[in-house]
Amino acid sequence: MPTTRNRPAVGLLYNPATPDLVNHAPELVEYLAVMPDRLWFDFGPQASGRRFHRTLEAIEEIRQYVRGRLLAGHGLGLSLPSAIPLDEEFVDAIAVMSADLGGFQWFSEHLSVFLTPHGSVPNAQAGLGLPVIYDEETFEIMRGKLLRMKSALGCPILMENGSFFTPVPDLDMSEPAFLNRLQREGLCDTLLDLHNLYVGWRNDSPPPSEYIEELDPDAVVEIHLGGGDDFAGFYMDSHSGLTPPEVWQYAYDYVPRFKRLRAITFEFQETYYERIGVDALVAELNQMHELAACCNLEASAAHAR
Ligand SMILES: [Fe+2]
Repeated sequence: MPTTRNRPAVGLLYNPATPDLVNHAPELVEYLAVMPDRLWFDFGPQASGRRFHRTLEAIEEIRQYVRGRLLAGHGLGLSLPSAIPLDEEFVDAIAVMSADLGGFQWFSEHLSVFLTPHGSVPNAQAGLGLPVIYDEETFEIMRGKLLRMKSALGCPILMENGSFFTPVPDLDMSEPAFLNRLQREGLCDTLLDLHNLYVGWRNDSPPPSEYIEELDPDAVVEIHLGGGDDFAGFYMDSHSGLTPPEVWQYAYDYVPRFKRLRAITFEFQETYYERIGVDALVAELNQMHELAACCNLEASAAHAR
């Protein structure tokens, strides 16, 4: 496990197309993030004891591909900033999945509101993350949930900045200030999605450089790269393409500052796999290795706390 290396690992967010891509360039993929939410069907709290039905074939395939690679978990369904209790059964199921796969080195979730109350299916999600109100009340909601998750999962937790389609003015705290405080109080580290910052900028939020300058570089443990496209007058984080050149530019400008960075991760949606093309994805992985080579991590800080 590359915990003492002096550069971050390069990897992918796992999806059903990942095995084919890894088979084309096994040596370029050092890290995989898997989403437990995508590896089971959730029949809801009323199905007591039999709530999560796993997709066994997919889990067996993951077992094969995570061997010898750094492994983390990534989640979408907990909606941690929402003012609803933490879904304890969901967290416990993540812990069991982590143990079954050999242990997540860390677990990341989104700093967005996803859950819709009274949905027609269990754990119904909005389809896109809604912005968070950054104030003391939200901070206290997050504190309790993050402490419980850290203890249940036994690994560091990372919170990922969301992709938003409209600026939210007049907040008590900016998003980077909120993330800095979460880290300072020992609750979680940051997963910085550079493409999500680009999405915000394309949809009238301030430039990513302003955001990154405010963020504590020592909070960042993982970065996400990815691409999107235009839809109905908005730029979307559809994970439909390669990382745009502007995002690569901030990656080269800022990523070497992140002295605790452990992983550089590319996200794509499997339905776009053929369209993006395996050769282009292998070239993307090679470029990610070039970026990783620009990082010289501090030996004492080269692993998540
Ligand atoms: Fe992301």
